[in-house]
Amino acid sequence: MKHLLAASDLDRPQTLGILDLAEQMHDIQGREVKKIPALRGRTIVNLFFEDSTRTRTSFEIAGKWMSADTINVSAKGSSVSKGESMKDTLLTLDSMGVDCFVIRHAGSGTVQQAADWVRASIVNAGDGAHEHPTQALLDSYSMRQHWRTLDGGPVNDFEGRTVAITGDLLHSRVVRSNVSLLTTLGAKVLLCAPPTLMPTGAATWPVELVDSFDEALARADIAMMLRVQRERMSSGFFPSEREYIDGWGLTASRLRALKPGVGIMHPGPMNRGLEISSEAADSVGSLVLNQVSAGVAVRMSVLYHLLGGQQDNSTQEGATA
Ligand code: CP
Repeated sequence: MKHLLAASDLDRPQTLGILDLAEQMHDIQGREVKKIPALRGRTIVNLFFEDSTRTRTSFEIAGKWMSADTINVSAKGSSVSKGESMKDTLLTLDSMGVDCFVIRHAGSGTVQQAADWVRASIVNAGDGAHEHPTQALLDSYSMRQHWRTLDGGPVNDFEGRTVAITGDLLHSRVVRSNVSLLTTLGAKVLLCAPPTLMPTGAATWPVELVDSFDEALARADIAMMLRVQRERMSSGFFPSEREYIDGWGLTASRLRALKPGVGIMHPGPMNRGLEISSEAADSVGSLVLNQVSAGVAVRMSVLYHLLGGQQDNSTQEGATA
């Protein structure tokens, strides 16, 4: 695998391979000595044209724990702020011998385009409303761990599980990657959103559209809440916040009505009190921090799948300085 640009790049064996290796990485995280030499000699640049807390930090930690040299470059503080194009930025850094770019950009499709420009591997860390494949991988990882804890025994099968994804689906890259990956793994996906925040074309996706949030919750094994992305809404916020909470918010009363064992997920950052109440976010059924923790292990696994098989010339016998 040279790049990870979209969840749809991954078939079922590749997806399970990444999740299985992530479990081994998670075990390493739990040990006292965390650092392994798997990516020694590799250089990874986190190139973020949009803000991030979880994705950028976890990629940096993932690279460092595998002994790669990780460097963060953001639009602010680089020559991008002087008007340098994304292509020139990438070509410049690629010429320095970078092995992998982890890229976040506001433009849908820009990260795919970048793969044509550079020699290095590319991981899509979120492009516009298009894709965020490592988020979907860590979400599936968290679900699998949750079901394993609930049911006991190894669980590799998503068949028979129902995931209800609710929120501002129109602006969400997370929903697109999750629909693709969860379908590959065999889960049933329900989508629920205000009509103004449902993507046009969602009816053609391999999902079931459900009007009533309460019906979606009643059928769900996982309630995945997605953020209302007010920064991407040019003409105000519709419906009103009150209408949104009443219709699609995971409130304390809806939390109490959930059947036992429903996992509550949110990729973060959360709008507490809007799409998810603090009671739900901090409840025993919440997997929100499990998702964050899984992010490091899953990104270690992804980086290893992209870079781990490459030859490290710096450690070859007879190599000269
Ligand atoms: N879930 C997610 O992508 O969070 P960040 O924007 O903080 O990276």
